[in-house]
Amino acid sequence: MLKTELCDRLGIEHPILSAGFGPGAGPDVVAAVSNAGGCGVLGASGFSVPYLRELIGRVRALTTKPFGVNLILEDIAEGPIEACLDAGVPLLVFFWGDPTPYVGPAHAHGAKVAIQVGSVDEARAAATAGVDFVIAQGVEAGGHVRGTTALSVLLPAVVDAVTAIPVLASGGVADGRGLVAALSLGAQGVSMGTRFVASEEAFVPRLYKERIVSGVAEDTIYVEDLFNVGWEKAPHRVLRNAIVREWEAAGKPPVGQRPGEGTTVGSRTRAGQTMAITKYASLTPTPEYTSDLEYLPFWAGQTCSLIRDIRPAGQIVHDIVREAEQVIDRLARIRTAPQPA
Ligand SMILES: Cc1cc2nc3c(=O)[nH]c(=O)nc-3n(C[C@H](O)[C@H](O)[C@H](O)COP(=O)(O)O)c2cc1C
Repeated sequence: MLKTELCDRLGIEHPILSAGFGPGAGPDVVAAVSNAGGCGVLGASGFSVPYLRELIGRVRALTTKPFGVNLILEDIAEGPIEACLDAGVPLLVFFWGDPTPYVGPAHAHGAKVAIQVGSVDEARAAATAGVDFVIAQGVEAGGHVRGTTALSVLLPAVVDAVTAIPVLASGGVADGRGLVAALSLGAQGVSMGTRFVASEEAFVPRLYKERIVSGVAEDTIYVEDLFNVGWEKAPHRVLRNAIVREWEAAGKPPVGQRPGEGTTVGSRTRAGQTMAITKYASLTPTPEYTSDLEYLPFWAGQTCSLIRDIRPAGQIVHDIVREAEQVIDRLARIRTAPQPA
């Protein structure tokens, strides 16, 4: 068993969260992670309140264990946070914005608040706002990337800066070795996205999962503003696919001058509503799309180098815990007693 303060505070067995990786982090993967003793986090940004309520209901039908809901705070609409709190969601995981207005209401409803940050300053501000946990996101991360610092530097700096609250690590962690490394740098747990995208239960197309498995870190690219339609000026990391290669071959032109700017690449049907998808849209591919997947963003982190199979999410949790325990045992064996002089 690997029990940290985070486990006690969240009422979970293992210090492992799955990140709210957009609509790919649907009820099935959330419940699988929570049922395995971690904490699954539902990706919920941009959903209507009725759809969000439906998804929370589906999670509840699959697990009685604690889980979280992820919301991006930039441009958040009125309603989703209140809907989560009314539904008794145990954990809100925020990203990209100021959590201050939401901490009081969350605590009043008995919910805990985490926020993913990309810098020490942002972590300090979150601590001042009264959040319960901070997730330090390294630049290795997949999806939207808040900061520019490697996890191995950011994490201990954040731990030193916010001594009163547990810190989790995200970005660059995909196995038991990464979990132990994060713990050794002062984290109380980890939050992983890319590893759980390549799980059986993730609500993303098989091809996308297979690209993560066959990809390596160097196949990912960190870009300032490529998939910007719907969310501008938010740096992100994706796997190279046809749309990225086309843009690179064109000399990486700026927004407004990219190949096929403004064209439609397909459509998506969600909750009975179909909408056209514009090239360079910032969205997570799911089975709801009719679009050619080569023209959608394959958000993924450098951990592609460490992910070699698609596994059930619960098995991922158990395998990581087991491997972490083996690593800790190995480290204990190399710590020899001092020899008498
Ligand atoms: C497919 C994908 C979609 C993501 N979408 C979101 C999101 O909607 N909200 C969020 O807070 N973070 C999102 N992230 C970022 C994760 O919270 C986390 O920082 C990242 O997955 C950590 O790096 P890793 O992917 O190497 O584990 C996403 C990540 C991925 C891979």
